[in-house]
Amino acid sequence: MTTINKSDAVQALQDAGNLDALYRAIAPLNMTPGWIEREKPLLRPEPDTGFLPTHWRYSDCKAALDAASRLINTDLAERRNMVLRNPAEGNDYATTKTQVNAYQTILPGEEARSHRHTPHALRVIIEAEGSFSVVNGDKHPMETGDIVLTPGWSWHGHGHDGDAPAYWLDGLDVPLTALLEPMFFEPHPDGYAKVDRVTPDSPYRFTWETIQARLDGASPDDEGYFGRRIGLEADEMPTIAITVERLEAGQATRRYRHSANTVFSPMMGAGTSLIGDHEFSWGRGDCVAAPIWHWIEHRAEEDTVLFSMSDENLMRYANYYRFEGAE
Ligand SMILES: [Fe+2]
Repeated sequence: MTTINKSDAVQALQDAGNLDALYRAIAPLNMTPGWIEREKPLLRPEPDTGFLPTHWRYSDCKAALDAASRLINTDLAERRNMVLRNPAEGNDYATTKTQVNAYQTILPGEEARSHRHTPHALRVIIEAEGSFSVVNGDKHPMETGDIVLTPGWSWHGHGHDGDAPAYWLDGLDVPLTALLEPMFFEPHPDGYAKVDRVTPDSPYRFTWETIQARLDGASPDDEGYFGRRIGLEADEMPTIAITVERLEAGQATRRYRHSANTVFSPMMGAGTSLIGDHEFSWGRGDCVAAPIWHWIEHRAEEDTVLFSMSDENLMRYANYYRFEGAE
């Protein structure tokens, strides 16, 4: 005859005479009832992000960078950048749920040390002549109007051979990497990686001229949600979808919302965007965050070239993607 020893926990469960006793009994077993009401329900009719539509003016960010240039050098600040922290409650640094953007500056003669990390990065160059990146030993220019890529785990550092401060907008998927947790970071053992080759036509660099030529050949969007629009190839960094669209002065896009987080930055022009119930008037170099499932509409007051980055690829991969257009 065998004796079954019941654990105290099992005994407590068998003795539970009401739900409160059941809840107390399961707590030490690391369980929670699936049926209780939670402050924020696990399943919801539609996305309910805490992230807010937000607008950052390039002129403000540039002034902040210029102040930082007076106060800290690239020995102390490996990257002299200002992170665009969404004012969402409890948010520390992310611009949207999955992306972070930052404005960065480097002064003539400075070098920003080389490092590598699993998050993918891109840069939209706002004002720069003579600045460059060294990616895996390849030195390529970063000049006004360029969009450059730094796929995850590539060694990368920056430098500047020009005469005036260089400014750009960084975009990375750091919050996504932090959420999923495969975060790895490594400083380069030599500090500044040496240049093996000079590659102005790097596949990681899309020049303003290249982008404009491709936009010239792009078809208009029949449904009116976008201007003439191209996607930039970034196969090594599939978490970030990169598009550039052209809006003519006076052109308004048809309102849509989609289950992706999007950040816009006008590379040229001026206009207004409605993001949810926020209206933002923007100019060249600004940044606008459109969190998931907020209505989006743009109105160009001048001929505009609008950069955007989003996690749409990721949403599509997961079969989560939805797009809804206004009537
Ligand atoms: Fe980096």
